Amino acid sequence: MAMFSFARRNRGINTRTDLLNHLIASMGYRRYLEIGVRDPRDNFDKVRADHKDSVDPDPRRPVTFRMTSDEFFASRAAVSDRPSYDLAFIDGLHLADQVERDVVNSLANLAPAGTIVLHDCNPTTESAQSEAYIYGEHWNGTVWKAWMKLRAARRDLSMFVVDIDEGCGVIRRGSQQVYPLPSLDYSTLGYDFLKRHRREALNLVSVDESLKLLG
Ligand SMILES: C[S@@+](CC[C@H](N)C(=O)[O-])C[C@H]1O[C@@H](n2cnc3c(N)ncnc32)[C@H](O)[C@@H]1O
Repeated sequence: MAMFSFARRNRGINTRTDLLNHLIASMGYRRYLEIGVRDPRDNFDKVRADHKDSVDPDPRRPVTFRMTSDEFFASRAAVSDRPSYDLAFIDGLHLADQVERDVVNSLANLAPAGTIVLHDCNPTTESAQSEAYIYGEHWNGTVWKAWMKLRAARRDLSMFVVDIDEGCGVIRRGSQQVYPLPSLDYSTLGYDFLKRHRREALNLVSVDESLKLLG
């Protein structure tokens, strides 16, 4: 009984995988890209899309493209008739500059009605959002800074963070009321700002709210 009520909480969308599979089912998406895979059993293998590509430079990982995301997108840029992706999940190197590039490059490879999901947008401790990864420690990195810069600068995107699983950011082409930042320079954006403006600046929403926004 307890198992059943847990599964149905949040309409069954409790993890990044649930959100990705919901998007695939509700939007009829077919082509999926995952940037940063680690152990595919944790997410990649559970994503139910007809065509799946994965990118990770770690030689231990069984992926489609063993290279960095920058190398992957550079190699695709050389191909003129490359098929676009319906859904891109960005979960590679968690540093703001890299994340910003991953989002911009994913947008350039996204179908018109496609969606990007960005993991780790909502760190809840200062230590989790450090620049440096310490082995074994909880780490979201500075993904949130890239998210906030795009929230501040890109009126042509629709963006919200679903309040599940470290914060799953959803990005589509569209429009948004931008949320101004004191500076677009990552080095001056501190955790205090996130703590004070978390809900509005991230556009943090519940699963129920996100389902209305997703349409
Ligand atoms: C947090 S793990 C991915 C977790 C996985 N997406 C999941 O949902 O379980 C991050 C992965 O990103 C990979 N990575 C690190 N730098 C990268 C880069 N520049 N481009 C692509 N992947 C990268 C790492 O090797 C690691 O496997």
